[in-house]
Amino acid sequence: MLPVDALMQEHRLIERMISQMKRELLRMKETSGVNVAFIDVAVDFIRVYADRCHHGKEEGVLFRGLSGKAMSSEHAGMMRELIDEHVYARKTTGNLASAKERYVKGDGEARNDVWKLLNDLIEFYPKHIDKEDKRFFYPSMSYFTGQEQEAMLNEFWDFDRKIVHEHYAKVLDELEKTAPV
Ligand SMILES: [Fe+2]
Ligand SMILES: [Fe+2]
Repeated sequence: MLPVDALMQEHRLIERMISQMKRELLRMKETSGVNVAFIDVAVDFIRVYADRCHHGKEEGVLFRGLSGKAMSSEHAGMMRELIDEHVYARKTTGNLASAKERYVKGDGEARNDVWKLLNDLIEFYPKHIDKEDKRFFYPSMSYFTGQEQEAMLNEFWDFDRKIVHEHYAKVLDELEKTAPV
């Protein structure tokens, strides 16, 4: 297994969430409302799985490794685009969470903002994933030796192991902020 195969498996899970987001957006438009519980689940998934865990390995391991290599200008340019796209996804997800909060508080404008931001993410992820899967990931592997690829895969597993502990420590930090023991 190549390191990029592990990342591509994660793309398949992100795509399943995007399908759910599409289905829920249609339903919300039919009922002229916002499914707050669904938005919470989607925002949590994108923040923790797609951003912290998945983009985290892309940026913190793969891209970091590539930045020490003499990349072609095409690949270097594409990597910069991918990093910018992660920034966009992060910002859009944050805006979606804020719009949902405003909706909960009764802001009349917020419903359309939730719909629009959800749609922005639905349109964004398939394009971003397609670029990585079809144009960037496999060519990027040619800059690494077999040994480096194996080390990268091990770094991925170490990274994943950290995430679950980090996530639940954060959950408790938040709980204790609102309800100190
Ligand atoms: Fe990415
Ligand atoms: Fe990705």
